[in-house]
Amino acid sequence: MLQRLQHLLGIEDLTREQISFILDQAKPFQEFHRHPLKKLATLRGKTVALAFFENSTRTRISFATAAARLGADTMNLQAESSSLKKGESLLDTVWTLEAMRPDGIVIRHSSSGAPEFIAQRLGIPVVNAGDGTHEHPTQALLDALTVRDRKNTLDGLHVTILGDILHSRVARSNIHLLSKFGAHITLCGPAMWVPRELESLAPNVRRVSHIDEALDGADVIIVLRVQTERMHEPALAPEEYILQFQLTPERLRLAGKDALVLHPGPMIRGLEIDPSVADGPQSCVLDQVTNGLAIRMALLYHLVGGAASEPASGPGMAGKDK
Ligand code: NCD
Repeated sequence: MLQRLQHLLGIEDLTREQISFILDQAKPFQEFHRHPLKKLATLRGKTVALAFFENSTRTRISFATAAARLGADTMNLQAESSSLKKGESLLDTVWTLEAMRPDGIVIRHSSSGAPEFIAQRLGIPVVNAGDGTHEHPTQALLDALTVRDRKNTLDGLHVTILGDILHSRVARSNIHLLSKFGAHITLCGPAMWVPRELESLAPNVRRVSHIDEALDGADVIIVLRVQTERMHEPALAPEEYILQFQLTPERLRLAGKDALVLHPGPMIRGLEIDPSVADGPQSCVLDQVTNGLAIRMALLYHLVGGAASEPASGPGMAGKDK
């Protein structure tokens, strides 16, 4: 029997069946977005807390829109305005939010493991919207939905991931997800961002230093945003990155015309990707955004609309952990 999800903290611990279940659950919501009236009453009376301790545009708007279209209300906490700036601890902030009785919480945080830490202490479903360099599970799910729609399967794909794999939670979640479906994964980028340890993330993961070799035979190419602030450790000039790793139309030809190009956004056009590739027929970037809504609606429907969970803990319970 399919094990019911209580939280969505990462892809690593999910089964192939649980992943397929979520992708299947997203199907009717994809249809729903084609309708002129985009509002359901499924989660009417429920409240979803959006706790974004790290800046975010598309992911936060996507979760907020998904909740609204299901009829739920949202409580918003944003990095710039949060009392974290005043020195409040993560736990005190989320206990404060929990005291306003939301039915689920979506959290983005710069520390890997923050959503799990919260999930162990709150009695409501927790959804990870990106934690440090650890995981970004909804991004991998929406990527998988996008690929499955275009390729009609997720099985045994040749997937190439380009860029700063080491610091990318998107890459990590995608590697876990696609590997569960037998993917052959090729990682390519500057050597400092593609260390050997990454090969042990899943079976059939290899590192390739030359982009031409990495693209040859790829079914799916995931281009990661270059985090320019990381180009100083050690120094890597943007011109050098462009020369060696930018996905250009010429390079895309090596992968073939059926290869899909994905990018989680925000894209830096002209750095990691040539604009004509970003806007070309093989690009899936806008489908990814639309599918993000369907995935997040399916998850909120499943987690927040589902059965009641454990009773809440609170500051008074903290002593019991010690
Ligand atoms: C990604 C993230 O924040 O991890 N963006 C996103 O959620 N779509 C990727 C990135 O910022 O590079």
